[in-house]
Amino acid sequence: MKQVIHRIGLLWTMDDETHSDGPRCGAEAMRMVGAMQDAAIAIDEAGAIVEVGPQKVICDMADAQTEFIDAEGGFVAPGLVDPHTHLVHGGSREKELPLRMAGASYLDILRQGGGILSTVRETTAYSEEALLAQAKTSLDRMQRFGVTTLEAKTGYSSCLAVELKQLHVAERLAELSGVNMVHTAMPAHAVPKELPAGREAYIDELVAMLPHLHAAGAEFADVFVEEGVFSVEEGRHILGAAKALGMKTKIHADEMVPIGGAQLAAELGATSADHLLASTDEGLVSMAEAGVMAVCLPGTSFYLQKPAARARFMMDEAQLGVAIASDYNPGSCPSENFGLTMSLALLTLKMTPEEVFMAATRNAACALARERVAGVIRPGRSADIVIYAALNPEYVLTHFGISHVRQVLVKGRRIL
Ligand code: NIG
Ligand code: FE
Repeated sequence: MKQVIHRIGLLWTMDDETHSDGPRCGAEAMRMVGAMQDAAIAIDEAGAIVEVGPQKVICDMADAQTEFIDAEGGFVAPGLVDPHTHLVHGGSREKELPLRMAGASYLDILRQGGGILSTVRETTAYSEEALLAQAKTSLDRMQRFGVTTLEAKTGYSSCLAVELKQLHVAERLAELSGVNMVHTAMPAHAVPKELPAGREAYIDELVAMLPHLHAAGAEFADVFVEEGVFSVEEGRHILGAAKALGMKTKIHADEMVPIGGAQLAAELGATSADHLLASTDEGLVSMAEAGVMAVCLPGTSFYLQKPAARARFMMDEAQLGVAIASDYNPGSCPSENFGLTMSLALLTLKMTPEEVFMAATRNAACALARERVAGVIRPGRSADIVIYAALNPEYVLTHFGISHVRQVLVKGRRIL
């Protein structure tokens, strides 16, 4: 036995005795956190969990070489999974806030060539090393909040070379940091103001990038399906092409206007649909029927000063599986604080603490098709674990805006 985490006051494994994989859908299932008191976790040389159980039983398994990690009677839960970030980008966009305060909307700013398009210009101008340095600072911050798996999208680019530059930076960061990184290709993020060859040719260009991005490591494809950005038909075309390549799909759906993004996610069998601020009942129900994970982004609705997604309807009525994500990006959610995301889920999505942790661990892993890898503490799984300097999850969530994380393990290796 290489390591034992002992003196755990309260453990939420997010598992149960059936050891089933897959999402917890609906409120009742999302509250099944697999609570254990006075527990310990044994970890082997390979960084895998060997046994989870009562303190006394696990400690008896230790030998002379075992390293003991003391949880000091605190709360322990799976490493957090952030299934939606725009980690790699150049520059920042604080100058947009006064425009928004003066009445311009997020989409107005984009239409005028600002917003995402201004980050496209900066990201294009940044060298790979400069992008890496900025994203490394962000990733360090994320890790301090207990994130052990995260998704990183491309999408601040005008051509394939810049898409590949972002993807490459995310890959290098995964290696540098030791976190588990999932790559998403999102060339269809914004439409340039001028399209010399026309819109159809532009969409063809985006589709033509996908095989290269897939070959370079992008597992998912994502499209910003929104009024004035990409239509449902364009989303269907681009994501259909991605599926034909064997890529999994995600959609930025119904963030501002419900043009049918949720329904498209259901039709395509997307792994997740994200944002969903304006989704209709029908859209959400169709997602549940198709097994699409709903990813709510409470930091984004907070920063854009919009009503939060209807997470209670999703869980109570539609019986959806709900995950949460930071959506870290320079325009609509410039914060790497996943702890704050979780507190905002409690306060603005009106989720219970159990639902919040489920949404940030097991269900978030499902939103990245990592249900067999991350999100639960179970024998055989990689030891991605957070030890909190707090006695209970309610304290972690209500004492908001700061990190309560004491230690973070990824594959049994301390990264914090
Ligand atoms: O998820 N809505 C589209 N994309 C991002 C924002 C990107 C940006 O503003 O730079 C989002 O909110
Ligand atoms: Fe996003």
